[in-house]
Parts: sequence; C-alpha cells; structure tokens
Amino acid sequence: MLNFELYNPTRLFFGKGQIQEITNQIKPDANILLVYGGGSIFKNGVYDQVIKALEGKTVTEFGGVEPNPRFETLSKALQVIHNENIDFILGVGGGSVIDGVKFLSAAAYYSGNPIDIVQKKMNVDWKAMPYGAVLTLPATGSEMNSGAVVTIEETKEKLSFQGEPLYPQFSVCDPTVISSLPQRQIANGIADSFVHVLEQYLTYPQDTPLQDRFAEGILSTLIEVAPAVLADASNYEAASTYMWCCTMALNGLISKGVMQDWVTHAIGHELTALYGIDHARTLAIIGPNLYRVMLDTKKDKLVQLGHRVFNINEGTTNERALLTIEKMEEFFHSLGIQTKLSQYTEDYLKAAEFIKNRFEERGWLAMGEKKNITPTHIKEIVTMSY
Ligand code: NZQ
Ligand code: ZN
Repeated sequence: MLNFELYNPTRLFFGKGQIQEITNQIKPDANILLVYGGGSIFKNGVYDQVIKALEGKTVTEFGGVEPNPRFETLSKALQVIHNENIDFILGVGGGSVIDGVKFLSAAAYYSGNPIDIVQKKMNVDWKAMPYGAVLTLPATGSEMNSGAVVTIEETKEKLSFQGEPLYPQFSVCDPTVISSLPQRQIANGIADSFVHVLEQYLTYPQDTPLQDRFAEGILSTLIEVAPAVLADASNYEAASTYMWCCTMALNGLISKGVMQDWVTHAIGHELTALYGIDHARTLAIIGPNLYRVMLDTKKDKLVQLGHRVFNINEGTTNERALLTIEKMEEFFHSLGIQTKLSQYTEDYLKAAEFIKNRFEERGWLAMGEKKNITPTHIKEIVTMSY
C-alpha cells in the first residue's frame, strides 16, 4: 500500500427531507448565487424546497448551466458574481451544475485569466469562494470531491481540474429527488459510478485488500440495485443505495494508497467534446476495450473482479479476464447503454487519430497506473471501440 493522506471536509446530509438543512449551513448575511441547470428543478419541487430553505437570505439566481458545463456560460455567471458582490454559491443539480460551481468558486478570487484554470488543468491552491450543493442526479461524486470537468466550447476541449479548496462546504443528497430522473440519466449514473470504481480498482494487485473489498462492494451493490432503481425510481431504499454508491465511488476513499488509471475518462471526455455523447456512455464504449488492450497489465485484477463480482471461476487467466470484460459489457447493455461508438455517430472514423494526436500535443505520452498506455494504445483502444 502506498503512503496516503485522507482529507475530506465536505459535510454530507443524506436522506429524505434534508434539503431544509441548508438553512443552517449558510450564514444569515451571505450574499448567495443560486446556480442551476436547464430547469428540471422547477418541475420536481426541488427549487421550491431550496427557496423555502433560503427564506430571508439574499439570493441571486443563475440558471442555464448545460450538461457538460461550458466555460462560455460559466463566464456569464462569473460576471454576476462580480457585479452582485456574491460571497457564497449554492449549486442545485447534477454533476454539471456542481462542476460549474466549482469553476466559479475557483475563478471568483483568481487574478489571472479564468480560462487558464480549465485549459491549463490548474491545481487550485488559492482561496476559493465557499459553496454548497444540492445533488439531483447521483453519478459523478462531485458532491463530495474536489474535482471538476468543464468544456471550452470554442476549442472543443473538455478538461478536468481540481484543488483542495474546491470541496463543497456541504452537500445534500436526498434520494427522493431522483424520482423525476429519466431512465437514461439513471442508467448514466449507474454506469458512471461503476467506471469510477474501475478506474481506481482495475489496475494490478497492489496489496490493498481493504480498498479492493470496498471497490468490489460498490460494484456488486450497483449491479444488485440497478434493476430496482430502473424499474421504479421512487423506490426509496433502492434510490438511497444507488445514491450512496455514487458518492462513495468517487469521494476519495477507495483511491487511498493505490495507483489509479483514469485513461477511460480521458478518452471519454474527447468523445463527449467531439460528438456530445453522454459522459457515462463514453466510458461504456471505451472502458472494456481499454481493458482488452491493456490485458497484460490488468488481467490479475480482472480475474479477481470476475471471481468476486461476476462469479467467474473457471478457465485460464486470459479466458477468465476476457469473460469478465464481456460480463461488464452485458451489464452496460442491461442498463440500456450501447457500447460501440458507431451506435452513437456516423462520423466515428476520425476519432482514433484525432484523440491520439490530441494526447500527443498535450504530452500525454505515458498514461495509466503503470504509465504504459501510449498514444499507439490510445489509437488501438478507440479503433477497437468503433
Ligand atoms: O439541467 P437540468 O434541467 O437540471 O437537467 C439535467 C440534465 O439535462 C437532468 N437532471 C438532473 N437532475 C434531474 C434531472 N432531470 C430530472 N430530474 C432530476 N432530478 O439530467 C441531465 C444531465 O445532468 P448532468 O449534471 O449533466 O449529469 P451528470 O450528473 O451525469 O454530470 C455529468 C458531468 O459531470 C462530469 C462529466 O464529465 C459531465 O460533464 N463529471 C464530473 C466528475 C467530478 N466532478 O468528479 C467526475 C465524472 O467522472 C464526470 O467526468
Ligand atoms: Zn465519470
């Protein structure tokens, strides 16, 4: 196990009715910017609950943060922050809104050009504006981590940045909010959190039995709960389990003491930037093929995953590893998620070369847990995903 430091300052309120807690979490004299997405919160009662909890406080609203939040849109919100002397931000939405708020939090007191935060993938180590979040879509774990992903529309770049000051001060996870989610978004949330676990777990044996069991526990629980939550999003027990899995998949705990991969995400972000494919679906397209191409590095963990999560107990190491990847794909299919790029766009043939070149330009020449994923591998992975 590698040395590690564990720090997570987010106060998490989990459960039915917890939105009202935000009343106590924001100072009475705060000047608040309430940030939300395209309007789902108006239809499902979340907006009303938030407004009630903010009664008596000074609130300015900024709506219209789109999925895969854009720098260009967020720049308008940043202007509002400066014009209105905002000193606290409350994000109400899915990962896109919360990530957008993280950008605003980082940019609010940044003296340089805010585009650099995204384009240079900066480590935010300056004072950030405090913010809280009300999560409406379990998927990203953004409600309890310090990372964010923002798209620069002009250059079609989708890039992540992070920093310790970017943890939410508090987050509310009320599982009842998912009852208004379309099936597509629930499937996305399950697949995204599933792959978050894989990015941290599916590497090579690292003598970390507890981290492994945490990871396998989340994967098994997601597989178990998926049919129930897809069948009935108002099933509170299923919704709670799904929501908690998503938070635990990416709040920093299971990554402690291990080398991680994250190349599936890096490639996936390019597919979203190029074609607008939902984040989670890009992961279902790329992940299985990355595991195939990097089989030599990953086969021992694939066999362990197959044994403990998919009950695969027979065959040679390679057979078991490959069967595990197939089971994973079957799981994505069971969620209604297609795993071939050509099923999402007709314009897929340019992807492999484009992404390979982009990674080379950025100097991303040796990636993954063993720094052995090269641009040649990237091209092979993407081509295999056509
Ligand atoms: O905008 P509104 O109208 O709210 O509608 C949203 C949006 O259209 C809708 N929605 C959200 N909650 C709803 C709802 N509809 C009905 N009822 C509700 N309760 O769902 C749509 C998608 O929302 P979005 O926030 O884009 O989805 P998600 O949470 O999957 O976030 C995806 C973004 O997060 C990034 C992704 O790259 C992508 O940009 N990620 C962030 C991470 C992080 N910060 O740690 C890690 C992830 O790997 C991921 O990269
Ligand atoms: Zn993700």
